[in-house]
Amino acid sequence: MSKQTVLVTGGAGYIGSHACIELLEAEYQVVVVDNLSNSKPESLRRVERITDKSLQFYEADIRDKQALAAIFNRESITAVMHFAGLKAVGESCAQPLNYYHNNVYGTLVLAEAMSEANVKQLVFSSSATVYGESASVQYAEDFPLGAINPYGRSKFMIEEILRDLSAADSVIGAQSPWKIALLRYFNPIGAHESGLIGEDPNGIPNNLMPYVSQVAIGKLEQLSVFGDDYPTHDGTGVRDYIHVVDLVKGHLKALDVLQSEKFESGGCKAYNLGTGRGYSVLEIIKTFETVTGRKVDYKIAPRRAGDLAECFANPELAYKELGWKAEKNLDDMIADTWNWQCQNPQGYV
Ligand code: NAD
Ligand code: UD1
Repeated sequence: MSKQTVLVTGGAGYIGSHACIELLEAEYQVVVVDNLSNSKPESLRRVERITDKSLQFYEADIRDKQALAAIFNRESITAVMHFAGLKAVGESCAQPLNYYHNNVYGTLVLAEAMSEANVKQLVFSSSATVYGESASVQYAEDFPLGAINPYGRSKFMIEEILRDLSAADSVIGAQSPWKIALLRYFNPIGAHESGLIGEDPNGIPNNLMPYVSQVAIGKLEQLSVFGDDYPTHDGTGVRDYIHVVDLVKGHLKALDVLQSEKFESGGCKAYNLGTGRGYSVLEIIKTFETVTGRKVDYKIAPRRAGDLAECFANPELAYKELGWKAEKNLDDMIADTWNWQCQNPQGYV
């Protein structure tokens, strides 16, 4: 028997498409809403191919109130996984209004539509970028928040809005309270093991892993390593890379917990999704070369503005409360990235 129906916003994108697979494989019905601003419908066809199951796709913008209301009317949705959003830091600095409109206003419209349809279970894609400066490089959920660019601030604002929404339940004595998980991702990389779906960035990638794999396959000439004078063990930046399949498994665990007695009286809670271990840029390059047998040509370049030296998750809360921890190691992440890259050198085109 099929479980409930989950609405996946941004389901055609990199992380959302992987979430669709996990949901379908766990016998959920899946409804996707995506405006295809940063994705292609081919990703959803491949999700159906991998799972041998079908999903319902609506090409719509989450800021379109009528379209959302119609979807909630037509489908028996019980929970929402909200991935839709713009995510490029540099672009957000050039187009802040676009980012606030798409991410913050889009979430307001979605939350209103959910409220009207009395659907109050929400798993939200937040980011480690919401953390402010801290004395420790291993971030825990209770660390001070304070993003430093419009993209990060849009995530921080959404978190605040969702916390307020949940807090309002006790003020108004809501019968069915909001149950919200804010999942703060560290650095998602990798792809589904089939190599059929993966990250398909537009233009030249900003993030390290897609850049490295495009250099390895010969699409890009050389990687610039942004800074080798950081106070880290080899001078290059350290991050907590997490396999996208592990990441989306965390979403299903969060959904289970939202539906359990732990959240019976509602609430809004943040969880880090990371492995708890950091790798430097040079370690990523070296491991990539070992796993794939390809050379990654690189040069040392100046630091990139806004970068931290080191940042990784304290993933204990997600383990304790969601029963989730990352299972895949860096070799798996790189092997799966490479498998996707080799099978789809031009992405979904
Ligand atoms: P993505 O761009 O691949 O996917 C986002 C999807 O949302 C795309 O398919 C896009 O077309 C869609 N979309 C954007 N605006 C929309 C709108 N207004 N209405 C409907 N659809 C819309 O990005 P991703 O890497 O899969 O990221 C998913 C979520 O996770 C985003 O909210 C992102 O901010 C967050 N996140 C991503 C990372 C990362 O490294 N990839 C890290 C932290 C947080
Ligand atoms: C970046 C964003 C962050 C976002 C995350 C999504 C910035 C400042 N931060 O994080 O808000 O949530 O992506 O995954 O943009 N590097 C190179 N050369 C490159 C690219 C990256 O050396 O061509 C280095 C960076 O300096 C960093 C590491 O690789 O040390 C990882 O970079 P990246 O993949 O862009 O992720 P973050 O900067 O952690």
